[in-house]
Amino acid sequence: MALKRKSKQFKWRRKHLLGLRELSAEEITYILDTAKGFEQISTRSVKKAPPLRGRVVVNLFFEDSTRTRNSFALAANRLSADVIEFTKKASSVSKGETLLDTAKNMEAMGIDIVVVRHGAGGAPRFLSRSINACVVNAGDGFCEHPTQALLDAYTIRKIKGTLEGLKIAIVGDITHSRVARSDMWAMTKLGAEVIFVGPPTLMPSQVERLPVSVSYSLDEVIEKVDVINMLRIQFERLGGNPFPSVREYSHYFGLTVERMKKAKPDILVMHPGPINRGLEVESEVADGSNSVILEQVKNGLAVRMAVLFLVNQAAAQKD
Ligand code: NCD
Repeated sequence: MALKRKSKQFKWRRKHLLGLRELSAEEITYILDTAKGFEQISTRSVKKAPPLRGRVVVNLFFEDSTRTRNSFALAANRLSADVIEFTKKASSVSKGETLLDTAKNMEAMGIDIVVVRHGAGGAPRFLSRSINACVVNAGDGFCEHPTQALLDAYTIRKIKGTLEGLKIAIVGDITHSRVARSDMWAMTKLGAEVIFVGPPTLMPSQVERLPVSVSYSLDEVIEKVDVINMLRIQFERLGGNPFPSVREYSHYFGLTVERMKKAKPDILVMHPGPINRGLEVESEVADGSNSVILEQVKNGLAVRMAVLFLVNQAAAQKD
C-alpha cells in the first residue's frame, strides 16, 4: 500500500533503460504500473495512442530475435512512433561498420530512441555514453535483458497479485542467460526469493555473491516453488559440453509431466522463448494449464510501450 502511494508521486528520470541491477524497487514498480495503463490499448479496435508521434525508434539488432524485436516494433507503432528496422545481416555491419559508426549514422538521420541487442555485454551502456538518443537494452551478451524480466515480473504480479514472499526457481543454463540475471534483480528487488537450479557446469562462477540460493536438483526444488522459469539451453554460446547428453539433461532438469505432479497445483510455468520443446520443457507442460508462456509474450507489449514512453518522457524533460 505504502509503495503504491509512493509510486504515484514518483517521477521517472532515466532516459535510458540499460539494466535492472541499477533500478530501485520503486522504479521497477513504476514501470509495471505504467504498463498496466497501456495494456488496454491493445484491446481497442484502434490500437494506437499518440505519445510518441513524430519520434523515431530504431530497432538495432545485432543478434537474432523474434519476440523481442517484433514486440518493440509493435510497441513503438502503437505509440505512433516511426520505426526503423536494422538487422546485422541486412546492413553495412556485414561490411565491417562498427556499432558506434552505425549508431552515429542512424543518429544523423534524427532518431530519438535506439533499442539495441548485442552479443557484447555493456554495448547498450557504451552507446548511451556516445550518442544523444535514448538507449533501451534489448539483451546484451550474458549481462541483462531488462524488458524480459519486467514482463516476467508483470506477468507474475498480474496473476499472483504480488511478488513479495514468492519462491521462484530459474532453471537451466544460468551461465549464459541474461534473462536469469535481469529476472534475479527484478524479482528479488520486488521481494521474491530466487533459486537458481541447474547442473554445476551451467552455474556462473561466484554465484554465491548473487542474491539467490542455488540448487543442483530440480526434484528437490519443484515442490516448494510458486513460479518456475525454464531457460533455453543457449547452444550457440556453449564452448564445450556442459552435460553428457541432451537426454541426460532432460532427465534431470527438464520440466516433464511426471515432474509437474510434484509441483504446487497453481505453479506458474514460464519460459522466455524460444523453447527447445522436449529438452527443457515437455510440450504437454509448455501448452498445459499452468503455462503462462503466451501471457508473457502478450504482456511484453504493454511493458515495452511503458519503457519507450518513460524514456522518451525523461529525454523530453531534459531537453
Ligand atoms: C532470450 C534472449 O535472447 O536472451 N530470448 C528472448 O528475448 N525472449 C532468451 C533466449 O534466447 O534463450
